Amino acid sequence: MTKDGIQDIAQFPQDVEGLPRRRFMQQLLGTAAAAAVLPRHVWGDPAASLENAARHMPVEDAGDEAFWHLVKNQFMLREGLIMLNAANLCPSPYPVQQMVFALTRDIDRDPSSVNRRKFSGLREKSREALAGYLGADSDEIALTRNTSEGNNIVIGGLTFKPGDEVVIWDENHPTANIAWDVRAERYGFEVKRVKIPPACESVEELIRPFRDALSGRTRVLCLSHLSNLSGVALPAQAICRMARERGVLTHIDGAQTFGSQKVDLHDLGCDYYTGSAHKWFVGPREVGVLYVRRERIPGLWPSIVGVGYSQDLEEDARKFETLGQRDDARIAAMAATVEFHSTLGVTRIEKRIKRLAAALKSRLLKHVPGVRFHTPLRPEDSGGVVVFSAPGIDLQKALNTLYHEHSIGAAVFGGEQAGIRLCPHIYNTLEEMEHAALAVSSLAGEGP
Ligand SMILES: Cc1ncc(COP(=O)(O)O)c(C=O)c1O
Repeated sequence: MTKDGIQDIAQFPQDVEGLPRRRFMQQLLGTAAAAAVLPRHVWGDPAASLENAARHMPVEDAGDEAFWHLVKNQFMLREGLIMLNAANLCPSPYPVQQMVFALTRDIDRDPSSVNRRKFSGLREKSREALAGYLGADSDEIALTRNTSEGNNIVIGGLTFKPGDEVVIWDENHPTANIAWDVRAERYGFEVKRVKIPPACESVEELIRPFRDALSGRTRVLCLSHLSNLSGVALPAQAICRMARERGVLTHIDGAQTFGSQKVDLHDLGCDYYTGSAHKWFVGPREVGVLYVRRERIPGLWPSIVGVGYSQDLEEDARKFETLGQRDDARIAAMAATVEFHSTLGVTRIEKRIKRLAAALKSRLLKHVPGVRFHTPLRPEDSGGVVVFSAPGIDLQKALNTLYHEHSIGAAVFGGEQAGIRLCPHIYNTLEEMEHAALAVSSLAGEGP
């Protein structure tokens, strides 16, 4: 028995029954996470593993298609399905899925509190791994349900008085937008929405609207790090610095950057950051992360107080996660997800996403007459979220046509940013970008 008690799980070889074992074993089982989950007799040859391939590549090497095919094989996506909706929900790779399955079985076999004791240690391992991954300290990290919960913990935990003002980007998600309106109505402060000009061509153009909006009454500036509506990536570090110089707190919604790019929170300089494991992080569903800068922890009230809360947590982000009974297996699998990212290389993942997004944009330009991007073409101001429209496309029909006729999982929305959103991730290939652009081109002519 190890300190975590995790060997309990390794005694059940049936945990891997029915899976394409050879592929699973050979490609990833060199990793400690997989070794922790699976019995030793099913480990594969580490020389053939993805870990091995990644380890022998220089850090600056973005990986060739053969490498990324190996990565794609870590996901159980249905044959032929081209998933391009990472901004919404992502599949998990084998090691993460297996960790969740194995630990879930372990709980179902023996839900006694004695057996479940090990999960507090596993939760701390996940916290530690996440803190390292995000450039933060462990006691600045709370494990939440998702970005929605994290945003609401921040919004509900700050104290405001009438006359105070909160500045938000008008592209924020409802959980960092309407959630502020609801709070403002109750406490009598004001929420000011900022628009950025279309087609910004410099970092300064992206910072200026926010700087101009701040006043002596502004308490908080709340922004999506990268917009799920337009795909615009804000220069968050420069904006946070500018806000800090004016004594304004910064709340960054990282739903679209957690897992898709290198994020160093101490370097970024924000006061609060939120994310969801089930998006770009390809982690377990319904687990999220909330970062609160050390100095800000005492000033933020917990919205839910449950078992585990104590005054001793005054300066500890754990006070934001006394949320009652949780799915311990999923929380424990966060550490395995961090390990998956480390195995592949965080910078390499970011580069791959940008490469796929750039390829998608160029193929849309080539194949779709009149295509108009809401997302900047410049990689500096964008990431994996690609939003566009084109004449003649019936947006009402596009989602179903893309799915039923082209096997593409996309997103489509109306409103100011009306268009199609395609978000490539590490389980996609360059070939799929071509396929997606051709599929979009075939939609033209269906609509007005
Ligand atoms: C920017 C942003 N914030 C928050 C959320 C909410 O994420 P979740 O449903 O995982 O809480 C989303 C979801 O798409 C998002 O794009």
